Amino acid sequence: MAANKADDIFKEFKEHSISEFFKKNRQMLGYSSMVRSLVTVVHEYVTNSLDACEEAGILPDLRVKIDKLGDTRYTVLVEDNGPGIPKSFIGKALATVLAGTKFHRNVQQRGQQGIGAAGCTLFAQITTGKPIHAVSHTSVNSGYSCDVSIDTMHNKPIVSNIVQEGDAPHTGLMVSGEFDGVKYDNSDHGVYEYLKRTALSNPHVQIHFIDPNGQESTFLRSVNTIPERPKAARLHPLGLTVNDILDLAHASGSSRLSAFLTDTFSRFSQGKVNELKDIVGIDFSMDPKKMTWDDASKLVDGFKKVRWISPESAHIVPIGKKYIELTLKNIINPEFMNVVERKPSVFKGGFPFIVEAAIAYGGSSGRQTDNGYTGNIMRFANRVPLLFDTGSCGITEAVKQVQWKRYGIDMDNQPVSVLVNISSVYIPYSGVGKEAISPEEEIVDEIKLALMDAARNIQHYIHGKQQLNYDTNRYKTIMRYVNQLSQNLSELTGTQKSAIHEALKKLVIEHYPRVKEHVSGDAGKGSDEGEQGESGAEDREDAEE
Ligand SMILES: Nc1ncnc2c1ncn2[C@@H]1O[C@H](COP(=O)(O)OP(=O)(O)OP(=O)(O)O)[C@@H](O)[C@H]1O
Ligand SMILES: [Mg+2]
Repeated sequence: MAANKADDIFKEFKEHSISEFFKKNRQMLGYSSMVRSLVTVVHEYVTNSLDACEEAGILPDLRVKIDKLGDTRYTVLVEDNGPGIPKSFIGKALATVLAGTKFHRNVQQRGQQGIGAAGCTLFAQITTGKPIHAVSHTSVNSGYSCDVSIDTMHNKPIVSNIVQEGDAPHTGLMVSGEFDGVKYDNSDHGVYEYLKRTALSNPHVQIHFIDPNGQESTFLRSVNTIPERPKAARLHPLGLTVNDILDLAHASGSSRLSAFLTDTFSRFSQGKVNELKDIVGIDFSMDPKKMTWDDASKLVDGFKKVRWISPESAHIVPIGKKYIELTLKNIINPEFMNVVERKPSVFKGGFPFIVEAAIAYGGSSGRQTDNGYTGNIMRFANRVPLLFDTGSCGITEAVKQVQWKRYGIDMDNQPVSVLVNISSVYIPYSGVGKEAISPEEEIVDEIKLALMDAARNIQHYIHGKQQLNYDTNRYKTIMRYVNQLSQNLSELTGTQKSAIHEALKKLVIEHYPRVKEHVSGDAGKGSDEGEQGESGAEDREDAEE
């Protein structure tokens, strides 16, 4: 009886492809709210363009254009000057989920999984039924254009309408697609902000953006050098699981386990092998292909009992203090800023990371509101702006833990921008949407230290500025009385009014030397303003208080 029931049920048993899975679970790829979905498309294409340009040693020059077709329907076009994609790979690159050039490398890059571009194709397909259009030039005198879509049942690309294209001013890829269920907005979560922050964290990048109203903005590059290419990282023993070791051992070309260990992993010397021999009861001369689960788990236990040198940091490339300063100046032009770069640190699993933090004050820092300003936090991971899932991010957690008031910083009422970038080969995102960093203790602590360091200098600036404002108000208020006082004293003493006026003015100016530099033009101008202006009344009240 039961067997028959099972037979019945299992008649419906089917395999499904990864693209069918994402078709049903598109929110996992960042396609949730309308505003976020549009940013996700731009993010996927822009990160791909930047990765590709940098890998080819080309200074990235991007053009991003968004057009509105209907209430929730838009086209997105992203064009780069990168190496382009060969015709034989275009379908795999843009229309196959889990395919790409980056997954098997252990290199710090923006993309990793081989999902982003195919995710966009899938999203266009399920919301508008239309393919993505691509134009690729791998050399300036030969290129092609085509349409790509996905056969979701089989996770296979469909490439159609292939047309040979003529000369182009540069190599590169242009992709464009039509998407529904999306929305453009100018908030802190919108495309403009995403691109502005991309420019901030990538001083070598130039982005020309045309928004749906035809408004054009260019984020100019601040430096003409491509960031140093991160080196491929070898795995550190402390980050390995039993399964990782077995997979690598079974695929290894070494004939002895000891050689496999020293050749494959970082910081693994012959000395370490000898140390392990004393505490791990396995045969280090065995063929690694014959290694068992039991052997590998004894090794992992042994790794925890010996001391290791920290992982190499040569494969982490942060933005750099000098470059953050340049780009902040270029884009935010703050009155004052302080940038801190921490030394490499390691979090659980043995992965090294580097935190950079900056605090900018004034200029276009912070966010303008109806009542003045509030502070804003700009989060980045490997130079990619994180705009969503703020609440669950380790960066937000660290910012919350800093006692800003202690540093004279009022995040609710001052034009302050806080920028944090984390660089690592492996960023521990807290979700598949890659919008928040998991609040690992070591990471949160490092960010906090960086922020506190940056805040210390800002404190001096803000304090100095507050003192100067106070003195300026006093100075102006006193100056307003100088004229009347000179007149009265002249009548009382019979001395010429102008002589008294000059002497009084000199006295006040000498008393507030910094204010004299601060108040532009004639330092005595305040006296005239005060005699005529109504605003004097408010200042007088301030002075009396
Ligand atoms: N603009 C581009 N220029 C050159 N190659 C590209 C470009 N865009 C995508 N590619 C190629 O297509 C592959 C797939 O891109 P996709 O965005 O799907 O994955 P990824 O960038 O490797 O990882 P992730 O899913 O994390 O973004 C890339 O690995 C790259 O080889
Ligand atoms: Mg990608």
